Amino acid sequence: MERVIGTDELLPGERRSVIVDDTPALVLRIQDQYFVIEDVCSHDGQPLTSGLVDVSDCSIICPRHSARFDLKTGRALCMPATEPIRVFRTEIRDNAVWAA
Ligand code: FES
Repeated sequence: MERVIGTDELLPGERRSVIVDDTPALVLRIQDQYFVIEDVCSHDGQPLTSGLVDVSDCSIICPRHSARFDLKTGRALCMPATEPIRVFRTEIRDNAVWAA
């Protein structure tokens, strides 16, 4: 696993672009949960960086054609995406978020 960001570097509702496993990724904090996803929509490659997050079901909406992805599993929840996005396994330790 690699260290992604300090837990105190993100406030609830914030996100940050990072690199994990040589891959552009996005770390998001929703309340006290952290999610690390590959920052690429599976539909047509749009970065999800500025995608709207729906905290009610922990999903992110692609800003380009509005596909929605589950932040916990990466599953595509609606068209036009049919393939999942990559979700990194995360761990909190030593006051930091780790992902692999
Ligand atoms: S590029 Fe994301 S929905 Fe089309």
